Amino acid sequence: MTEVSASTPQRFYITTPIYYVNARPHLGHAYSTIVCDALARSKRAQGVDTWFLTGTDEHGQKIERSAAQAGRTPAEFAAAISGEFRSLWQRLGLSCDDFIRTTEPRHIRGVQKLFSELRDRGFIYKGSYTGQYCVSDELYVDAPPGSPCPDCGRPTETVSEENYFFKLSAFERRLLEYYEQHPEFIQPEARRNEVIAFVRSGLKDLSVSRTSFRWGIPVPGDEKHVIYVWMDALANYITALGYGSDDPADQERFRRFWPADIHLIGKEISRFHCVYWPAFLMAAGLPLPRAVVANGWLLFDKSKMSKSVGNIVRAETVAEVLGTDALRYFLLREISFGQDGNFTFESLLQRYNGDLANGYGNLVSRVVAMVHRFFAGSLPQTGETGEPEQALRAQAERVIAEFQTQFAAMDFSRALETLWSLVAATDGYLTAAAPWKKPADRSEAEHHQLQARVLSVAAEAIRIITALAWPIIPESASKVWKQLGLGDLSQAAQQGKLQAITWGAMQPGTVFAEPAPLFPRAEKDAMERMQNLENENNLSAVAAVSQATPADAAPAPAPTVPASPAAAGAESASAAPAAPAPENPKITIDDFAKVDLRVAQVLVAERVPKSDKLLRLEVDLGYEKRQILAGIAQYYEPEKLIGRKVVIVANLAPRKMRGLESNGMVVAASVGEEGSPVLAGFLEDVPLGARLK
Ligand code: MSP
Repeated sequence: MTEVSASTPQRFYITTPIYYVNARPHLGHAYSTIVCDALARSKRAQGVDTWFLTGTDEHGQKIERSAAQAGRTPAEFAAAISGEFRSLWQRLGLSCDDFIRTTEPRHIRGVQKLFSELRDRGFIYKGSYTGQYCVSDELYVDAPPGSPCPDCGRPTETVSEENYFFKLSAFERRLLEYYEQHPEFIQPEARRNEVIAFVRSGLKDLSVSRTSFRWGIPVPGDEKHVIYVWMDALANYITALGYGSDDPADQERFRRFWPADIHLIGKEISRFHCVYWPAFLMAAGLPLPRAVVANGWLLFDKSKMSKSVGNIVRAETVAEVLGTDALRYFLLREISFGQDGNFTFESLLQRYNGDLANGYGNLVSRVVAMVHRFFAGSLPQTGETGEPEQALRAQAERVIAEFQTQFAAMDFSRALETLWSLVAATDGYLTAAAPWKKPADRSEAEHHQLQARVLSVAAEAIRIITALAWPIIPESASKVWKQLGLGDLSQAAQQGKLQAITWGAMQPGTVFAEPAPLFPRAEKDAMERMQNLENENNLSAVAAVSQATPADAAPAPAPTVPASPAAAGAESASAAPAAPAPENPKITIDDFAKVDLRVAQVLVAERVPKSDKLLRLEVDLGYEKRQILAGIAQYYEPEKLIGRKVVIVANLAPRKMRGLESNGMVVAASVGEEGSPVLAGFLEDVPLGARLK
């Protein structure tokens, strides 16, 4: 990637995509946000006035439908999931300066202003649209009825509506000129080529309003229309700064930070950010962002990690077992930024144990422990140095320069590889000098000198590694800084006190703090613990969305109810019925026949130790007995289940939870606001093993 230098060396504005609230956050979302966090931290550490924005995208037909499926109003549903994103970002220690929700009044006001501005300037006109629409991608698709969406392959729907149109076609030439004159605007190169090819193939005017549903921002003055969700969403980058506000403080923030330096996005939304967004801005007479940088996808089991594929891993799981820094380090080190990358628990553990526990963590704990043991915790004078010290210093200076260049170019994986070469070199230096053992032919005084030299030089190298690693592993780097007796690293970094990292800043006499564990070695059970947490989460996911109440959600900075009366009306108009009609696509009888549903009787029921959700059941199918784990412990007393006849999915692939194998699944209705499970049963007597069909 081309380094994006801040517009002035003094300010830097970076954004994540705002996340749809139709699904709970997973590692893919965390990845984009962690990358931005690392960049924002690094800029702050260089003394640059930085603004880091993230948030949630809450309007549109997709959210309206997901809410109905969960039996919630869109506003409640959006508040609950948005709250989950916000509290996860807090838990992961992400340093965002603002979190915008598109249902906030400040955003609604800004979007309406943008729409009016474009209409007043003659770029929006009324027409009618008949064509295909993909609800999942919220994308107009230029193809005959019945065509699948070219992006996600799902069926498109035919819509026929009176719409407002944006004159996108008028910007074809200007966009191409802009891409030509600003080669760094779309990164990486592959995305740039795709976007240019798309624009060259010709741009049609874009429908920017919908009338067939209500969950959106009303068009000012024509409130039966809601504004197209992508126009609504993209505008967050300016409304969060204060666009559309009369408050002088907002106007000042907008002047200070717009245009953005980096919009970081997933590669699948390049067209919206590199074609529609700059065209809207050009039409409104606003400056364009300096760069739109696309990350690749995080894959799990070879497919893009996503709710619809059903292959998600949650950031909380990794954070709980290995810590947030382990997750950050892994994502930035393992994935070549801009390309797709695989997530596996095996590679996560390998990186954790190899680079963090045995590498950096072990180096720090050896040096800190020896300074305590041999010098009562006070850093000694280096004294005279020789060739090994000079070599280590030269390498450190090379690493500082290379790391900074690679990091600024967003080549995080190479930057960390470079930095860890200094971990290895310092380790090698220490091992070669072996300050912990005195050879018989060395005098006490000479040995003491060697210890002083080696430990102070190694401590200096650790200081440099730690200062550079701070944006990536802030929690651990701060712990190390304290152990080195240097105080509060996060504070120093946030205040821009790490601007020049040079060799030789450790002062003799600095008093080290007690050694504290950094990355305890992960043993075999770590993998099992992570897998168990994921399996348990999947089990309880059925009820999860409907269980999350707005009260669970972290407080939003502003009320979540739409500001205008029309939008409030829209909200109640879309209130969902108690048992929403399913939206699932039809299946054939053959599809259904694949599911082997059987009557079984519960023989044993008991709680699974250390799990508040799981019951271990032994059931009798008549023709065989088996063990099933069911996530119903919060709803059923185990004793009351014994002897009861239940329905099970008998041909579900076995899986392990909490070290126990589950062979099948108990069928239950998901009921009410809470999504409580109610076990299926029969009024007449039925023999064990009978098939349901
Ligand atoms: N709401 C829109 C974005 C509007 S921005 C004005 C959207 N939301 S999303 O929730 O579907 O995805 C947002 C982003 O999450 C992706 O662009 C990407 O940055 C990140 N990711 C979601 N899944 C991901 C992976 N499996 N891998 C990497 N990033 C992923 O699109």
